[in-house]
Amino acid sequence: MKNLKSYIETHKTRFLDELFALLKLPSVSADSSYKKDVISTANFVAESLKAAGCDTVEICETDGYPIVYGEKIMDTKLPTVLVYGHYDVQPADPLELWDSAPFEPIIKPTELHPEGAIFARGACDDKGQMYMHVKALEFMTSTSQLPCNVKFMIEGEEEVGSENLATFVKTHAEKLCNDVILISDTGMISKDTPSITTGLRGLSYVEVEVTGPNRDLHSGIYGGAVANPINILAKMIASLQDKDNRITIPGFYDNVEELSHDERAAMAKAPFSLENYKKTLDIDAVYGEKGYSTNERNSIRPTLDVNGIWGGYTGEGAKTVIASKAYAKISMRLVPNQNHEEITQLFKTHFETIAPDGVRVKVTPHHGGQGYVTPIDNIGYQAASKAYYDTFGKYPIPQRGGGSIPIVALFEDLLKSKTILMGFGLDSDAIHSPNEHFGVFNYLKGIETIPLFYKYFAELNQK
Ligand code: BES
Ligand code: MN
Ligand code: MN
Repeated sequence: MKNLKSYIETHKTRFLDELFALLKLPSVSADSSYKKDVISTANFVAESLKAAGCDTVEICETDGYPIVYGEKIMDTKLPTVLVYGHYDVQPADPLELWDSAPFEPIIKPTELHPEGAIFARGACDDKGQMYMHVKALEFMTSTSQLPCNVKFMIEGEEEVGSENLATFVKTHAEKLCNDVILISDTGMISKDTPSITTGLRGLSYVEVEVTGPNRDLHSGIYGGAVANPINILAKMIASLQDKDNRITIPGFYDNVEELSHDERAAMAKAPFSLENYKKTLDIDAVYGEKGYSTNERNSIRPTLDVNGIWGGYTGEGAKTVIASKAYAKISMRLVPNQNHEEITQLFKTHFETIAPDGVRVKVTPHHGGQGYVTPIDNIGYQAASKAYYDTFGKYPIPQRGGGSIPIVALFEDLLKSKTILMGFGLDSDAIHSPNEHFGVFNYLKGIETIPLFYKYFAELNQK
């Protein structure tokens, strides 16, 4: 593509300034006190799509936060790329662990990014990665090099389960029809090793409540004689994994896809340093399911993790009390073929079964979603692979991701198209954590690689 590198070089300061303006808006979808900011962010995204050359841009209202839709149709005979991303972000807390304010973006050098990284909530997940697509579109329209049609669908509820998006996709399937879906909301292996995410894990998220006595009790008067809901909850949770760290819920593994020896051998070839992994996390050993490597444990194997646990007295000093209730939030990452609704049901039945006399348990399902895998022999994958080759000088490595983007499986069901996950983030970017950041290098490389995807996708479609 003509002038790609020079266009980015000329406009990179503006590209960063615009992203900064987007990152300043605290679009935390989980916290309703940010409602106004989330809506302002939708407006910002809509304006940016207009400026980048979309012919039509709409802010589509839903029962929750709006979906921003934009399109540029060059010729209905040409293929269509649907770009998906999200403008909402995770809550920023705990604030005290940030070195700079989460919604006041700054560029600072890091060991990995001596040229600088953008620090802000959403820098990588997903504002930075989503905005790369807007700037890639700007480049293609302003230099008259957009080789196909493009549709953008940017939502504001990804971090809270995309429930309204599912309805939108169901009711607007025709409007959204496309030849490939393109998403940058995942990561790559390392700064100089591009990869394409070929799988995402599914998710079942539940909240549990254990109730013992009808009120908080004096732990001396009653201690030892009644079930303490916190003790019981801890025991019940501990029993959900056996000594090999396999999940004990009956039927949990029934539909788990087992990878062939060859597939596992291919996965093991991806560059990975266990020493580095441990070092960056400050741990002396890794931990997980027996018989699987670290990279298998965090991608092709299902998990069960407590995400939060509370109850009783947690204030200053001590209070001798047996709480009436204990709670936990638990997530299970699922792999292809495990049905998230079935797993939620299995969990519920099992958890209720193992509750001892003396307590009552309640299991409340939250959101969930199916896992996803994409084969590497389709045109979209090949186009992405060629694009990376041009900008990194290497072909990308296919890699299963451990995270979840539940809507991707639904896209396949409802729109019948495959999704290509061209992620430019790094594991060290600290998404969802304090000090989230995104390398300036990664941001600009994304803007450079995306137009080439369009070019090759259009070319391969003609053949
Ligand atoms: N962008 C992430 C998902 C992701 C990150 C996939 C890195 C692969 C690699 C997304 O925004 C996310 O956080 N998804 C949630 C699920 C959602 C239902 C809250 C997740 O994975 O926890
Ligand atoms: Mn994301
Ligand atoms: Mn996220």
